[in-house]
Amino acid sequence: MAPKITVIGTGYLGATHAAAMAELGFEVLGLDVVPEKIELLSSGRVPMYEPGLEDLLRRHVAGIDGATGRLRFTTSYEEVADFGDVHFVCVNTPQKHGEYACDMSYVDSAVESLAPLLRRPALVVGKSTVPVGSAARLAARLLELAPAGEAAELAWNPEFLREGFAVQDTLHPDRIVVGVTSKQAEKQLREVYASPIGEGSPFVVTDFPTAELVKTSANSFLATKISFINAMAEVCEAADGDVVKLAEAIGHDERIGKKFLRAGIGFGGGCLPKDIRAFMARAGELGADQALTFLREVDSINMRRRGHMVELAREAVGGSFLGKRVAVLGAAFKPDSDDVRDSPALNVAGQIHLQGAQVTVYDPKGMENARALFPTLGYAPSALDAARGAHAVLHLTEWREFRDLDPQEVGAVVDERRILDGRNALDPQVWREADWTYRALGRPRI
Ligand code: UGA
Repeated sequence: MAPKITVIGTGYLGATHAAAMAELGFEVLGLDVVPEKIELLSSGRVPMYEPGLEDLLRRHVAGIDGATGRLRFTTSYEEVADFGDVHFVCVNTPQKHGEYACDMSYVDSAVESLAPLLRRPALVVGKSTVPVGSAARLAARLLELAPAGEAAELAWNPEFLREGFAVQDTLHPDRIVVGVTSKQAEKQLREVYASPIGEGSPFVVTDFPTAELVKTSANSFLATKISFINAMAEVCEAADGDVVKLAEAIGHDERIGKKFLRAGIGFGGGCLPKDIRAFMARAGELGADQALTFLREVDSINMRRRGHMVELAREAVGGSFLGKRVAVLGAAFKPDSDDVRDSPALNVAGQIHLQGAQVTVYDPKGMENARALFPTLGYAPSALDAARGAHAVLHLTEWREFRDLDPQEVGAVVDERRILDGRNALDPQVWREADWTYRALGRPRI
């Protein structure tokens, strides 16, 4: 019989994983400790913006008209322990306050809550991003706490989904990595992922530490790629070169590739920044800190971009923000997401506001989250409204909507036709032809 699945933690990762498992045909029970989230999900609504996720959820949530009923939600660990054969732990691991290390309290508490209730054979599968060594520690804890004894086993199965593409990445992963200590665990996970494996997704079987490290090293590599191109942008600025052309040209080398070479205000979000810091902290604990000192540089190049964007804007408005109006297009850390965690766009908006400008922000989906985090910034209901009376317009999150803006239409409402492209995603020629002064990071003035 097909294994019954539970998903603990229903954030971006958990909610998507639960809906995707139901889509693959499994009976799924999702758990969260926040009752409001469970109420929302049970009515087929998603507490964040993620393209396609709500549709997927509504196809399966029990009680919704026409749904398969394969997906239910609860706040009860008892219910989860009774129901599931395979339990996915999808809670978040944020950065610790005032430290680089990651906060394991949610993962620990999930295992501590579930394990003592496991009276029958079960596979507990960690998906959260954790410091290497955590799986071994949690496996020992599981053995100590679970009444089922050795029949309750742990596996580690990192997740590589991108926000904005979460549904696609979960249903059709580019690889599945599992850290296991038994053939039985591998067999069960092959069964769970039979559909993507059948489609050709590589299935990589390894030990606990390697599985944990695959995740942190993948994110470190991506962060390094972005900081590499942003470092080249700095050099281009000094030498009057064009980083966009440079990225295009080096990207033709297949060993380098074109992806993740978009220079701009850098990476943010709930993953890359905290993951590279937690990785450095963990390597330090293991006595391998020297191996990752380059990540400190990756982090500082990244943070420097934000400051540089502020300077570019200050220079553009004549050297001081006092009495100036600045429009900020974009608040989310990337397009197709409403996530504003460590968003470079909001960070830049906040700095400019603190330097005396009147800042008005517009984002297609991230307004509510942005307002909660930066209540003192101004917010407008559209790009055009944000731009009204502006002395400079800053393009800081590359939503399609912003690429489709008509420079003439925006030009009619601003005070000065000055645009700064923090994402190198607008077409400079189109804006310049409409009499705008266009500036971007790492590109020549004219
Ligand atoms: C990232 C990884 O890409 C996923 O594989 C991983 O599963 C996820 O973290 C995670 O650990 O959960 P995500 O945070 O959704 O996914 O965002 P990315 O698409 O990686 O973008 C991160 C940041 O880099 C964004 O702020 C984006 O604007 C920026 N970026 C990306 C650039 O500045 N330049 C680029 O060329 C690409």
